Amino acid sequence: MGLHDPDLMDRGHLRGLVYRSRATMPLEPAALRALVEAAALRNRRDGITGTLLARAGCCVQRLEGPGGAIEVLPERLRKDQRHADLQVVSDTARKACAFPGCPMWLQNQRPEPCAGCAAGSAAEL
Ligand SMILES: Cc1cc2nc3c(=O)[nH]c(=O)nc-3n(C[C@H](O)[C@H](O)[C@H](O)COP(=O)(O)O)c2cc1C
Repeated sequence: MGLHDPDLMDRGHLRGLVYRSRATMPLEPAALRALVEAAALRNRRDGITGTLLARAGCCVQRLEGPGGAIEVLPERLRKDQRHADLQVVSDTARKACAFPGCPMWLQNQRPEPCAGCAAGSAAEL
């Protein structure tokens, strides 16, 4: 069952995206809350579920949803100036959502940036 299996990567099938990026501005609690609330509204509209880990300048987001909705997200995310150096870690067909019913779950417990973000730019993945 390959990544580009035409049946599984069909726009109607479930697809999962994981990316990482570097915040370009401090994502203070209020800014992060506003970002997550807006993202959750759009994700609910688009049938997307997922989680965002954002702390100390690193963002890692895992998203799942209909292929058509996931397909257009990276382009929208890359235009967003709140983060940069967006790298897709994986983009695969999925059988089930990891966070059913959750349009955006914020995880921000990590106290230190990862090595890639601390170095100023994400390493090649
Ligand atoms: C770290 C981060 C995570 C984001 N997560 C989402 C998301 O899960 N869903 C979403 O629709 N937009 C998300 N956004 C916002 C998008 O980058 C973009 O601003 C939004 O989708 C509106 O795009 P549009 O103006 O092209 O319609 C996120 C932005 C950042 C900085």
